[in-house]
Amino acid sequence: MKRTILFVDDEPNILQGLKRMLRPMRDKWDMLFANSGAEALELMSKQHVDAIVSDMRMPGMDGPQLLRLVMKEHPGTIRFALSGYSDQEMVGQSIAPTHQYLTKPCDEKQLVSALELAMGARDLVPNKSVLDKIARVEHLPVLPDIYTRITAELARGDPSPKDIGDIVARDMGMSANILKLVNSSYFGLPRHIAAPQQAVIVLGVNVIRSVILSMHVFSSFQHIGRASFSLPMLWSHSMRTGAMARTIAHHEGLSGEEADHAYIAGLLHDMGKLLLETHCAEECVRIYDEVRANNRRVAEVEAEQLGMTHAEVGAYLLGLWGLPPQVVQAVARHHDPAPQEDGLDAADIVHFANLLDHDIFVFNEHYAKATPTPERLDAIGGPERYAEWRQAVLVMGLGAEGK
Ligand SMILES: [Fe+2]
Ligand SMILES: [Fe+2]
Repeated sequence: MKRTILFVDDEPNILQGLKRMLRPMRDKWDMLFANSGAEALELMSKQHVDAIVSDMRMPGMDGPQLLRLVMKEHPGTIRFALSGYSDQEMVGQSIAPTHQYLTKPCDEKQLVSALELAMGARDLVPNKSVLDKIARVEHLPVLPDIYTRITAELARGDPSPKDIGDIVARDMGMSANILKLVNSSYFGLPRHIAAPQQAVIVLGVNVIRSVILSMHVFSSFQHIGRASFSLPMLWSHSMRTGAMARTIAHHEGLSGEEADHAYIAGLLHDMGKLLLETHCAEECVRIYDEVRANNRRVAEVEAEQLGMTHAEVGAYLLGLWGLPPQVVQAVARHHDPAPQEDGLDAADIVHFANLLDHDIFVFNEHYAKATPTPERLDAIGGPERYAEWRQAVLVMGLGAEGK
């Protein structure tokens, strides 16, 4: 099916340039072009638009105003900001509620792959009717401002840890929370981190950015008064799974980038549980009752009752937000990684980190005791390897919160 994409920019030259650049996509995309927010909304009132890519600085209705209206009136449309703002200008502005942020000039490959990945995120979820309920009727959480600012800074070139740390430091509440977290046992750092700039140096910008994302996601679900499961327990399970995934990746000698992917996917792997809890609350009560009554796995019961799992819906949102495909895949497959021929990837690692956490920490009335299947053990080289990983994560001395 052809996708419809709407590009909005007040400068005719930019729209012309996009039109020319994206000509090769004509068979796959129907492309619409508007030179003002008003014209964009007019077009959207007449036809369905899968994704909107909007300039930020426009006379009359600016980008943030336009995207805010799109979010309200067409929640199913994926929102991209395409901006030429210098950082200084952007910092003073209100940030648009976007799913993703791209900077001008944006080359064809980057733009096409960002759009295709975000629109393809739907394909990760087998049950489209439940997905539509989540994606279209209700509002999905938007990316936190700091995350968007850091992404914009990264897109501009090679920012220094100080630049990134400064962005974090501007939000005092967030930086206090980050410092508390990076100094906790989840990170096992040998010395005290006193400033966000230092946290960026020690942990890297990708890890800091994903910590911000997961804090934001969890805090935006704080309003769930009564949940089918304990939010603090899910938070500590997520933090530990990320830390364990990184430890396994280091133990196996994976590259820094692969270890980051494993960490980020571990941190965010159960995010779909929050989405389902918010948007399918009644079903979740039934699902968790069944899990507790018959000591079953959550994902298995979700698949039975909803036709989809928290793994798939979590991956969907991360795909929409433009997280790396390795992270999205690892989250989608964390209960059921595909057999690997060419070594371990983030999906295998997160699968085992999740099992290890259930095995070591969260064995209680809410969860079944988790053990890896013989097939999965074979895939990583037998039970000895699992025992080795178990040992490696035990020596990390992670707090036993949630036990
Ligand atoms: Fe899970
Ligand atoms: Fe989990």
